[in-house]
Amino acid sequence: MEKIGVALIGTGFMGKCHAMAYGAVKAAFGDVPAIERAALCDVDEAHARKCAAEFGFARATTDWRDLLKDPGIQLISITSPNGLHREMAVAALAAGKHVWCEKPMALTLADAEAMTAAAAKAKGQATALGYGYLRNPALQFARKLIAQGAIGEVFDFRGSVDEDYMADPLIPWSWRLTRKDAGLGTLGDLTVHLVSLAQELMGNFESLCAMVDVVHGQRPVQGSDKTAAVENDDIAHALVRFASGARGVLTSSRIAHGRKNGLKIEVHGSKGMLWLDNERMNELNLYVADGPREERGFRRILAGPYHPAYDRLCPAPGHGLGFNELKVIELAELLYAVTGRPSQPVDFARGFSIEKVIHAFARSAESGTWTKID
Ligand SMILES: NC(=O)c1ccc[n+]([C@@H]2O[C@H](COP(=O)([O-])OP(=O)(O)OC[C@H]3O[C@@H](n4cnc5c(N)ncnc54)[C@H](O)[C@@H]3O)[C@@H](O)[C@H]2O)c1
Repeated sequence: MEKIGVALIGTGFMGKCHAMAYGAVKAAFGDVPAIERAALCDVDEAHARKCAAEFGFARATTDWRDLLKDPGIQLISITSPNGLHREMAVAALAAGKHVWCEKPMALTLADAEAMTAAAAKAKGQATALGYGYLRNPALQFARKLIAQGAIGEVFDFRGSVDEDYMADPLIPWSWRLTRKDAGLGTLGDLTVHLVSLAQELMGNFESLCAMVDVVHGQRPVQGSDKTAAVENDDIAHALVRFASGARGVLTSSRIAHGRKNGLKIEVHGSKGMLWLDNERMNELNLYVADGPREERGFRRILAGPYHPAYDRLCPAPGHGLGFNELKVIELAELLYAVTGRPSQPVDFARGFSIEKVIHAFARSAESGTWTKID
């Protein structure tokens, strides 16, 4: 496949991020098909036209179904609010398109299951979800070190994901706070990322015991003197057990003042420990308990071209990749899957396993008991 026609639904934070990835992926990864930015969709016509011109898409539409009929489009990005993902993804798959959909997959576990079934039925079509942090070269190096036994037998995981985008109780109400458009709150927005990292380094989850709370129950409605109810979780914490027998603690909050991309993980083993903080995503910290005690301490390993796929974006170590560049790697993995090459996108089946964990948080918090994860 020499070129692939792509379409983009949604032009907000993630829409622009996908658009930039489409613009960069061929230059970064020469061995992927050339990208033809065929069409872009958003609800407001003038805005959609402006974005199409700025993002380099040939045409704009306000009707996403219009994209399904276009034979020049083989891959569709879905960056609309969560409540639209299921309908759009299932329809795109039925129309024979490959799908790159943002996380979380959907509002409910049943919706995510339906999307997974649609992807399984669509033979020869690839799917990917927006788990870009998994593509961080420093994170993948941590995974390699663990597999090589650098920190011995791994027995404990500590992870937190904190942001402050809703920390001020006066931040206005939005679609992200509703069951109808967002589904779960912090769980769907932030905890999914932490779960994806925990799975990557520790393997599957076996069970958990969670506490999930709304802290700021009402938010002002922009442009009026009314308030509206916050329908989904601000905070979600859990004790977890992995299938390997290892244990862990996962904490998450969207109301954590001062935290901007506070996604932090620690993995403890019998011979050492490693940790990574996403606010410094190019630095992996490794402690190995050997050598003279007085010389021991954490080593700070800066990501470089010897940590795949850093070299595709930058030849110079320590110069650093950013959030948007991880998205380029995420897209390359999907394009490799589209062209039948070995790759590891987070497809709908893997995404469904992440959704099972966040919905287990919600069930456990409601029942107040330990909850098994299939
Ligand atoms: N992977 C990540 O790190 C990450 C980060 C932020 C958001 N997200 C996810 O991305 C998705 C979008 O979030 P966002 O922050 O970009 O939101 P946003 O509000 O900035 O953008 C959403 C866009 O979808 C458009 N839209 C709404 N209904 C539409 C329709 N019917 N047809 C076409 N377009 C429509 C909106 O007009 C807007 O342009 C969510 O699922 C969110 O959870 C992922």
